[in-house]
Amino acid sequence: MILPIVAYGAPILRTVAKEIDRDYPQLDKLIEDMWETMYASNGVGLAAPQVNRDIRLFVVDSGQIFANQEEEDKGKYPDEPGVKKVFINARIKSLNGSEWTYNEGCLSIPKIREDISRNEEITIEYQDEQFEKHAETFNGLTARVILHEYDHIEGKLFIDYLKPLKRKLMKGKLDDITKGKVKVDYKMMFVK
Ligand code: NI
Repeated sequence: MILPIVAYGAPILRTVAKEIDRDYPQLDKLIEDMWETMYASNGVGLAAPQVNRDIRLFVVDSGQIFANQEEEDKGKYPDEPGVKKVFINARIKSLNGSEWTYNEGCLSIPKIREDISRNEEITIEYQDEQFEKHAETFNGLTARVILHEYDHIEGKLFIDYLKPLKRKLMKGKLDDITKGKVKVDYKMMFVK
């Protein structure tokens, strides 16, 4: 089932999400719906707060970036072909490598893309959908998508990294998104 994506301005996008255990009701169904919602909106990651759940859960399929990239970009990123994974109760353990810039967007903030600087490599602890514990290192675009989704469960958004002037200049656009004055080809939920 495709779920509506919570638009910028909703308090849940500013909430630090809670850990869950295997008793969380209908978790398998939620994860299945999140995948379906992510693919339907051409996303490469989706976090639970974006579908109105304040829990530490996100899904990532960075392979989608590589599947859609231009021929000349093939082999440009070390993490190709990417990963498809569910992250539960994730905690970033370390940020490594140099910072690099990439043009990011977010399904909750449609029509806005900005160059964002993030670390090249991360080490993260998380549980998979069977609640097995993992500690893994990711790099490149995969690390970037994970960091973007991880920010969502910490109540952060990519626009938080922009300089105050830039944020100020986009306030009108952000207000329009909150009010639902934005055209997107996927289902959204507008909550003030
Ligand atoms: Ni996002």
